[in-house]
Amino acid sequence: MALTAKTPPVKIGIIGGGLMGRETASAFGRWFALEDFPIPAELVAVCDVQPQLLEWFQRVPSVRLLTPEHRELLAATDVDVVYVAVPHHLHESIYLDVLRAGKDLLAEKPFGIDLAAARRIRDEAARLGRFVRVSSEFPFLPGAQRVYQLARSGALGRIIEVRAGFLHSSDLDPAKPINWKRQSRFCGEIGVMGDLGMHVAHLPMRLGWTPTSVHAQLQKIYPTRPDGKGGTAICDTWDNAVLHTRASIAGDSVPMTLEMKRMAPGETNTWHIEILGTDRGARYSTKEPKTLWTFRRDKEQWWEKTDLGFGTPFKTITGGIFEPGFPDVLQQMWAAYLAERGGVLGDHFGCATPDEAVASHVMWDAALRSNREQSVVNLGK
Ligand SMILES: NC(=O)c1ccc[n+]([C@@H]2O[C@H](COP(=O)([O-])OP(=O)(O)OC[C@H]3O[C@@H](n4cnc5c(N)ncnc54)[C@H](O)[C@@H]3O)[C@@H](O)[C@H]2O)c1
Repeated sequence: MALTAKTPPVKIGIIGGGLMGRETASAFGRWFALEDFPIPAELVAVCDVQPQLLEWFQRVPSVRLLTPEHRELLAATDVDVVYVAVPHHLHESIYLDVLRAGKDLLAEKPFGIDLAAARRIRDEAARLGRFVRVSSEFPFLPGAQRVYQLARSGALGRIIEVRAGFLHSSDLDPAKPINWKRQSRFCGEIGVMGDLGMHVAHLPMRLGWTPTSVHAQLQKIYPTRPDGKGGTAICDTWDNAVLHTRASIAGDSVPMTLEMKRMAPGETNTWHIEILGTDRGARYSTKEPKTLWTFRRDKEQWWEKTDLGFGTPFKTITGGIFEPGFPDVLQQMWAAYLAERGGVLGDHFGCATPDEAVASHVMWDAALRSNREQSVVNLGK
């Protein structure tokens, strides 16, 4: 399918124009950077309850509707797909409104505040036949793709262990004011796992490596934070989570460690994955965004370092030697979403599915139980 001047664009609406809503606007603002991509798209409508954010979106020339009321956006007949980036306690009600308005949805993680909400959203999407995927952009990095392809190829031999994580550090500053992500009633009891977990779980789950058991170590580190108004507020979410899991991989029960941390000294936004096998291994971290490490053994054993260029899954005009970053992979994720929705994904990597989001919630739910009971929770597969 080739892009022609007559191909009508998919019309996008955004509910929640905060950090991620604006990043998404930027991805569509340079949609033309995608080469030979068959689906044009444009951002046409934005909803946020904060007037100053609606004002910000006036700089996007394609936006025709700005509203504080999400039902007004959903009533717009020229909106085909809605991206929702709101606090977690609002996911279920707004996602269900989107689906019932007959729109397709790119949902933000964690896809509902808890496991029960995630299941209700997934089931309603299936009942209504809407196309729904869940945001997780890091697997679209060239280095992440290379790790995924190596793992899928079988070249690693017997898998010995898997480690994946996503690490932040700005919460180490006790003077950082509280926000909704640090309060369970808005973020969810799962805390940091809801914030960072989908990013960590997406690639292993896509390889079919869903945990059969979970032992979790969860930490709450600062119990209070400045409330931003001169006072103090309770900070009651889990800050750091390390999940020691086992996954069944080719008949072996393999240790798989998943770490999600808001307080990892020195790590501003480090996404990493390492998969070690008996024959080969692969390691990638956004700490070294161009670098893929691969292990091989012959007479000697080698960790080899490859400089990757701009080998994103969907081709763009960007020079092959340049480095990809967050805005690039966010656009790649959107390209995967619209390609899959349009039936032209081919063998490209697809966005996280509602079933994968529910499976991730099963893990986070087991982690809460494991931490509470200081036990290993068997997920029995
Ligand atoms: N994919 C990623 O890399 C990534 C990164 C950060 C956050 N997120 C996810 O994105 C979502 C939003 O996070 P954020 O960091 O953008 O938060 P944010 O606080 O920056 O933005 C949320 C926005 O939602 C708006 N909002 C609240 N209630 C609303 C309502 N009823 N109608 C319309 N708008 C409303 C707020 O005014 C705010 O502007 C969360 O689910 C979060 O987990 C994803």
